[in-house]
Amino acid sequence: MCGIVGYVGSKQALSVVVDGLRRLEYRGYDSAGVAVVSENKLKVRKKAGKLTKLESLLGDDPLPSSTCAIGHTRWATHGIPNDINAHPHLDQDQKFAVIHNGIIENFAQLRAELEATGTNLASDTDTEVVAHLLASEYPKTKSLTKAMQQVVSRLRGAFTLVAISSEEPDLLVGARRNSPLVVGRGIGENFLASDVSAFISHTKSAIELGQDQIVELTSESIKIINFDGSDALFKEYEIDWDISAAEKGGYELFMLKEIAEQPQAVRDTLAGRINEKGILNFSDFQISDETIKEIKKVVFIACGTAFHAGLIGKYAVERWTRLPSEAEIASEFRYRDPILDKESLVVAISQSGETMDTLMAVKHAKEQGAKVLAITNTQGSTLGREADAVLYTRAGPEVAVASTKAFLTQVVAVELLALYLAQVKAVTQTSEIKKVLEDILDMSHAIDVVLDTMPQVKEIAEKYKSAKSILFIGRQAGYPVALEGALKLKELAYMHAEGFAAGELKHGPIALIEAGSPVIVIVPSLEHDPILHEKIISNIQEVKARGASVVALAEAGDEVVSLYADQVIRLPKVPSLLQPLVATVPLQVFAAQLAKVKGHDVDQPRNLAKSVTVE
Ligand code: AGP
Repeated sequence: MCGIVGYVGSKQALSVVVDGLRRLEYRGYDSAGVAVVSENKLKVRKKAGKLTKLESLLGDDPLPSSTCAIGHTRWATHGIPNDINAHPHLDQDQKFAVIHNGIIENFAQLRAELEATGTNLASDTDTEVVAHLLASEYPKTKSLTKAMQQVVSRLRGAFTLVAISSEEPDLLVGARRNSPLVVGRGIGENFLASDVSAFISHTKSAIELGQDQIVELTSESIKIINFDGSDALFKEYEIDWDISAAEKGGYELFMLKEIAEQPQAVRDTLAGRINEKGILNFSDFQISDETIKEIKKVVFIACGTAFHAGLIGKYAVERWTRLPSEAEIASEFRYRDPILDKESLVVAISQSGETMDTLMAVKHAKEQGAKVLAITNTQGSTLGREADAVLYTRAGPEVAVASTKAFLTQVVAVELLALYLAQVKAVTQTSEIKKVLEDILDMSHAIDVVLDTMPQVKEIAEKYKSAKSILFIGRQAGYPVALEGALKLKELAYMHAEGFAAGELKHGPIALIEAGSPVIVIVPSLEHDPILHEKIISNIQEVKARGASVVALAEAGDEVVSLYADQVIRLPKVPSLLQPLVATVPLQVFAAQLAKVKGHDVDQPRNLAKSVTVE
């Protein structure tokens, strides 16, 4: 939610920053803006709309060359997405430029104070107050870093900020609270960004800032302190992927590339975690066997797609560990009174590791003594830092706003977790665990097989381009898949879609069915789940009897379903709890294709941002 980038060094700062913004645009695309310091003056260009609009403006009205610059891509919270509300924001004398990610909760009070002393604020944003406060603090110490220290002490909420000033032209100052900020250490140049993709083409050496830290960068130095001025602890690391992972690599869309990368992402997430004897080997798992043996309950918390992975995790934990398990939407959990104690394991799932609802839910769980395990795709994320232990998915960078490969790797991670708990607690036969692990190891091949059905899925999608609404139904592990299929369609094709537990249909939603209503059915395995299979065939008949047009996702060899469904998309035969790994893929393609046909921006759907860092 908002992308931030800053550069100081010997290169053309503006082009480094604009290039960084291109890679961060997935975080928000309501407006974009840049500021440079040149000949001791600040110069700003900003524009509502996507980055291309800013690039045209820079073409028409170029900025002077500079070695220090900042850039921002916005997801609007305070103030509509127009040119004035775009970042960077300046003080009245145009000596301080600020970009921001987050929400300054006490901005109204600060704004009123500034106005009372005669300051004119140009925008409706919460951010602008920071530029004016920096201007009023700076004369006291003549240090941008010290002024920033004073200003952050007055702010409440989430505020990751980066500022430059014409008073100190070769300095970049950042402050981090609650939203991400990473430093890139170069040679004769340094970077600041919301995520490493903004600078990975220049350096792979990164520093993860902690909460409430301020960083001061020149081209030759990096100084990090806490908000109170004391020396800060921080973590340096090497980024283990390269720029090609964050580029389209010949694909028309990031989403299509990421869908195609799913077999590899699953393989990478499994790599090194199952030993040659078929035993789970979680050397990177920081919760001791003694602690695991004491766990009496497992609660998954997450948002959106990650929540759907959590639902699958709940089924896997119940099945293999026989522990009570729940899956909760983080924003609901956070304001409830969940029953947790030190024998509870809370598993927070988040691709970005920065989703504010999930972070707040984690805080809530920790306050009640629960152990927290993070499942995240992002090294150095806030979630990873806040949790007691981390299980990394290894999907690589996911750029398209709609989650695809991250979801599949989250499903793999929750299944592995459930099996690991069962292994340590010795509640499931070792032979059964071994068999499931063998099946999991085959899944990347199964996903490859499903990817071959893309042309058929695209044809089916086009048939439904004028549908008013599309329903998705499934049972057990097929239910989260139905939810995920509906979510993908809403966010990409902007169509009304709902996912239901198939058995619930007759309790109300069936009233929605009329002649031609499309219903997509995730059919349980005939071989592994004959009873559920029979039930879903009845559900198909119920909707068909009311005129629905049924597309079934069913395993190869299931000829029963062909008797009732209008169209069948074939899936490889896999055990029920692993079926989401194959059944979700056609639904991703289905939604992407409908979005394309309707002329929507598939990688950057309207109103959304990849990483939702506000509550
Ligand atoms: C998925 O397609 C969405 N864009 C969204 O639901 C996402 O999964 C959710 O916001 C959670 O994000 P996270 O995994 O980064 O926490």
